[in-house]
Amino acid sequence: MSDWRIDSWREKPILQQPTYNDPEKLKTVESSLASYPPLVFAEETRQLYKQLGDIAMGHGFLLQGGDCAESFDEFNAPKIRDTFKVLLQMAIVLTFAGRCPVTKVARMAGQYAKPRSSDVEVKDGVSLPTYRGDIINSFEFTAQAREPDPSRMLDAYHRAAATLNLLRAFAQGGLADLHKVNRWNMTFLENNPLKDKYLDLANRIQDTLAFMEVIGLNSQNTAALHETSLYTSHEALLLNYEQALTRIDTLTGKPYNCSAHMLWIGERTRQLDHAHVEFFKGINNPIGVKIGPSMQPDELIQLIDALNPDNLPGRLTLITRMGANTLADNLPPLLRRVKSEDRHVVWSSDPMHGNTFKASSGFKTRNFDAILKEIKQFFDVHDAEGTHAGGIHLEMTGQHVTECTGGAYEISDEDLSQAYKTQCDPRLNADQVLEMAFLVADHLKQA
Ligand code: PEP
Ligand code: CO
Repeated sequence: MSDWRIDSWREKPILQQPTYNDPEKLKTVESSLASYPPLVFAEETRQLYKQLGDIAMGHGFLLQGGDCAESFDEFNAPKIRDTFKVLLQMAIVLTFAGRCPVTKVARMAGQYAKPRSSDVEVKDGVSLPTYRGDIINSFEFTAQAREPDPSRMLDAYHRAAATLNLLRAFAQGGLADLHKVNRWNMTFLENNPLKDKYLDLANRIQDTLAFMEVIGLNSQNTAALHETSLYTSHEALLLNYEQALTRIDTLTGKPYNCSAHMLWIGERTRQLDHAHVEFFKGINNPIGVKIGPSMQPDELIQLIDALNPDNLPGRLTLITRMGANTLADNLPPLLRRVKSEDRHVVWSSDPMHGNTFKASSGFKTRNFDAILKEIKQFFDVHDAEGTHAGGIHLEMTGQHVTECTGGAYEISDEDLSQAYKTQCDPRLNADQVLEMAFLVADHLKQA
């Protein structure tokens, strides 16, 4: 660690980055950002670290979710509110069913940079740089829109700040009241075709809240019923932005990335000798790494030791994204090895990224049953190996989009065009993701 510097990543190979054609502008933007206030406070990241430490040791559950990519165009209060609401609705169901604390981490307030499978996009014979997320370029298919523009980092910072401000207000200002949250769940169930299947659980939550009210525990006198904490996270892909928001914490004297509470490295940029792993070694936040089906046990131990040399519980979350059909083969050897070498990690399941396919309608989609199957397998293999299924990581929205097929409303391939709004990967919509929470609750209860 002695040779780590805030910019030592710049000496390493790096993938999935834009080519900025105006280096002077890039420098100016980076130094402006570096002078701006941090978005989160290091002490908050330590609270999350502690909660994740408990989960690594087998107590609690991590619920992480949000857009695949936040969009500058859809930057508005209803959108932020609806994602916040649905995360809370899921959390109450999981907490009650699992009888364990649920740590809520949003993919919000900074999820603006995307790894892509190709550097260029070709349409009708025209070839342009691929869209890499709103912090880098614009989605529109024109040469001007696709040109990476450093000033978008400043726009991203201001949007992240405003998003975070609203999330904090919602969390503390009454919108997170558990009575309210469960009433939303009752309303969701009222109209749901599978109402009977889930109503019992929602009723029991309602009864429990009513009982607490009778014995004098209410929103006025009990903070835990009235407010909550919601942490933020994103893939720290664009290291120019991440470096500029990394600061020395005055309390500990250590570097923290203050662009979000938790950051993760994507499946495509986690090479041991590359820039992202280098940068992450020196920041003291809780961090995550995506783990795909090609990961081997030896490589995983090396990666764990590079990122968490002191084996501190809470530092590292391994987010597995195997695919519903391969998880049962690929995950157990990893679990066994990490357990036998006594490394402390949070195991979380991303059931989205291994289950993406192109529908016959041409839309990139995911099927509800495949997503659920990966989650079920995740719980099953942890059960069999005696390890803790510590969390789920979802691409989801509080809006009524049609991007993933299936669920109680049986969204079909033909329905996808009705409200397909994502600029990147397909998300579970508000109904699908709540239904998912009720189904995951069953597994959590058994676990
Ligand atoms: C993502 O989480 O949006 C993503 C790109 O995931 P992965 O790195 O696992 O492909
Ligand atoms: Co995605």
